[in-house]
Amino acid sequence: MQKIKIISTGYYLPAKVLTNKELEKMIDTTDEWITTRTGIKKRHLASEKEASSDMGVIAARAAMKKIKMEPEAVDAIICATCTPDYFFPSTACQIQKELKLKNAFGFDISAACSGFIYALTIAEAMLAHGNIKTVLVVATEKMSGIADWEDRSTCILFGDGAGAAILRKEEGKSGILSTYLGSDGTLGDLLIVPGGGSRKPPSKETIKNKDHYIKMKGNEVFKVAVHRMCESAVKAIELAGLKPEDIKLLIPHQANLRIINAIAKRLNLTEKQVFVNLDKTGNTSAASIAISLAEAEDNKMLKRGDIVLLVSFGAGFTWAGMVLRW
Ligand code: ACO
Repeated sequence: MQKIKIISTGYYLPAKVLTNKELEKMIDTTDEWITTRTGIKKRHLASEKEASSDMGVIAARAAMKKIKMEPEAVDAIICATCTPDYFFPSTACQIQKELKLKNAFGFDISAACSGFIYALTIAEAMLAHGNIKTVLVVATEKMSGIADWEDRSTCILFGDGAGAAILRKEEGKSGILSTYLGSDGTLGDLLIVPGGGSRKPPSKETIKNKDHYIKMKGNEVFKVAVHRMCESAVKAIELAGLKPEDIKLLIPHQANLRIINAIAKRLNLTEKQVFVNLDKTGNTSAASIAISLAEAEDNKMLKRGDIVLLVSFGAGFTWAGMVLRW
C-alpha cells in the first residue's frame, strides 16, 4: 500500500523572547490576565532584519538535514503564510532561491492559521496524482510585523516562527489518512488586516487608521473557533474511519489554551494526549502546527504507527482537520 507521508520535519524560533512581564511595561495588561485568558507566557520575535522567508529557510534546512536531502531532490515548495516577504515574488520563491532548490517550482497559499494543513492537503494531492516525488511544505510567519503593539487585545497573542515538513509517497501504512477543509468568507471581517491590498491600497489615511495591522473581534472569533475546530476534529476522524479513542496525540493550532481544552474535552482526551507549546510561542498563525509537529517529533512524542490529529482555525474564516498515521 502506498501513502503520502511526512518523512521529515524542522522548525525555527527566533532568539528574541518577549515575556508577559515585559509586555506589562509596554501596554495596560498583566501577566495574570494573559495567562488565565490565553495560556501564553512568552513569545519569540523575529529581528528587524529577519523576514518570513529567512525563518522558513532555517526550518526547511533543519528538515532536509535530518534526512540528508540534497536540494536537487525537492520538486515543489509550498509556503503557507499570511505575512509574506512581499506581495510578489512569493515567499516560496525566496526560500527556493536561498536553499538553491533549482529543480523545484514554488508558490504561496493564504489560509491564515489553517495554512499548514491546507498546504499539506495540496501537497498530498500533487504527490498522489502527479509525477512529483518530493514536496517541501514551509509555514512561516512574522506576526510581530502586523501586530498593533498599542492594541492590548491582539498584540499579546502573537509570536513569530517557522516550521517545515517534507512529504513523499512511500510504501507502508504510515501517512495521511484523511483531510477535512472548510471556510466561511461571510465572517471575514471579524479577523482582518484591512489595509494594503487592492480594497484599501496603502495611503496616508490607511497608515493613520492603523489599517495595516490585525483587527480582531476576539470574543466572536473565539466562539466560532471552538465550534469549527471541534467539527474539523470529528469529521477528520470519521473520514479516516477511526474513533476519537484511536487518537494518540492531538496537535491543535496554538491560539488559546481555553480553545484547546474545549477540543480535548469534546474528544475525551487526557492532558498527555494534547500537544501544547503556546505558553512559550504564542500564536504563530500558519507556522503554529508546523512548529508543534516538528517539536513533538524532536521530543520523541511521536512513534511509528501513532494516530495523530491536526486541527486548526484562522482568518477567512478557515478551518481544517487532518489525521495521520505516523
Ligand atoms: N490585558 C488586560 N485586559 C484586557 C486585555 C489585555 N491584554 N485585552 C483585553 N482586555 C480586557 C478587555 O478590554 C475587556 O474589558 P471590559 O470587560 O472592561 O470591556 C476584557 O478584558 C474582556 O475582553 P474579551 O475580549 O471579552 O476577552 P476574552 O476572554 O474574549 O479573551 C481573547 C480575549 C484572548 C483574544 C480571546 O477572545 C481569544 O482567544 N479569541 C480567539 C483568538 C483566535 O483564536 N484567533 C484565531 C486565529 S488567529 C489568525 O488566524 C491570524
